Amino acid sequence: MIGADAHVVSIVEDLARQIAERHAVKEIRIPLLERLELYQRSSGETSDVVEKQMYTFADRDEAETLLALRPEGTPGVVRAYIEAGLDRSDPEQRFYYSGPMFRRERPQKGRFRQFHQFGVEIFGRADAACDAELLVMIDEFRRKLDLYLEFQVNSLGDEQCRPAYRAALLDWGREHLSELCEDCHQRLERNPLRLLDCKTDAKLAASAPKSLDYLCDPCASHFHTVERLLVEADVPYVVNPRLVRGLDYYTRTTFEVVSNAVGSQSAVVAGGRYDGLVEALGGAAVAGTGFAMGVERLALALDLSRASSRHEPDVALIALGEGALGTAMRLAAKLRRFDLRVEMLSPERGLKALMRRADKLGARYAIIIGDNELARGVAQVRDLRATTAPIKQREVSLDELPDVIVRIGAP
Ligand code: HAM
Repeated sequence: MIGADAHVVSIVEDLARQIAERHAVKEIRIPLLERLELYQRSSGETSDVVEKQMYTFADRDEAETLLALRPEGTPGVVRAYIEAGLDRSDPEQRFYYSGPMFRRERPQKGRFRQFHQFGVEIFGRADAACDAELLVMIDEFRRKLDLYLEFQVNSLGDEQCRPAYRAALLDWGREHLSELCEDCHQRLERNPLRLLDCKTDAKLAASAPKSLDYLCDPCASHFHTVERLLVEADVPYVVNPRLVRGLDYYTRTTFEVVSNAVGSQSAVVAGGRYDGLVEALGGAAVAGTGFAMGVERLALALDLSRASSRHEPDVALIALGEGALGTAMRLAAKLRRFDLRVEMLSPERGLKALMRRADKLGARYAIIIGDNELARGVAQVRDLRATTAPIKQREVSLDELPDVIVRIGAP
């Protein structure tokens, strides 16, 4: 990385550090080399990272200890936390780290064998507010850079409810055995959750059981609180019930933050809760939750968004007829107060032409108000872009509109 490219990476790292520090997160420095076993026990034997992507070698000591270049930061932070005795003496801790990670992957746009992560790990907080705070941190970062990113959240449940979900996925996989790809045949018995990661047949995965339908009451309530707090904090998000993550330690909340500017490697930030990990690595039963940003991917998203200097509206507002015009004007002003970019389209053209115009502008949503909607105090909201939006068009009451748009994901 040379010159301007290196500089964009520094901008991303510096800003992430500033925001983490504003959330009272302290720095931790962790080694590049760890025992291979650490990753096998945490990232998971069946994860792609451990199965295929690690750079490992035997040390020249007598035991020929197997070492690995770190593919991610979380296990090293947990190990350091336990070794310092903090899990017992002072369990509530918040750390950030920044530095290179190594994965033997096929390089492509946004995917490198050496890349940088900026990560945050919080220990000793089992509450949903802490998960929401992580997403708020990422949202602050996104807003500062004026980046459009989609926040996708899900819950994978815990040791109480996950077994039932696993069993349901196993049944579903066996039922669809003949349609599954070769990799999925292996995933099925070893870790059926990975079936949802299938890149070959994403359509088939859409019919798989959803973890949210299997949550026990405490996990469901945890997830609802995360959702409620995201709405309170104006963090736009979508629920993605297929989000399973590629590492094994996750419990309850998981999330990925996706950019449409990075090509197929679209996750720029990812993370979630890992309540059993400290204990699994020999520490006390302490909760954990965190995320890691892919610094180069964010730099790429930033570069591209700067280059195209985003001016597309979040909302193209369509008033059909004189009657709806005043209401539409009021609504536009209200939406702008929520930091949304709103363009009111000419009331003098027909719906078809206006929808074409909204598409051409690259608007994220079209909001349509005609006489019929006006009489009932509602508007039609049509999603023009989202890849994972749960809806294409739906009717929303005018009172709820700003909240709904912010909630289902506009910048
Ligand atoms: P991960 O999803 O494996 O999670 O990686 C996090 C981020 O690192 C990805 O979203 C992506 O932006 C970036 N990344 C991963 N692999 C590459 C690559 N080959 N080239 C460029 N960027 C890459 C973790 O690593 C977890 N430790 C996150 C976490 C922290 N969960 C809880 N705490």
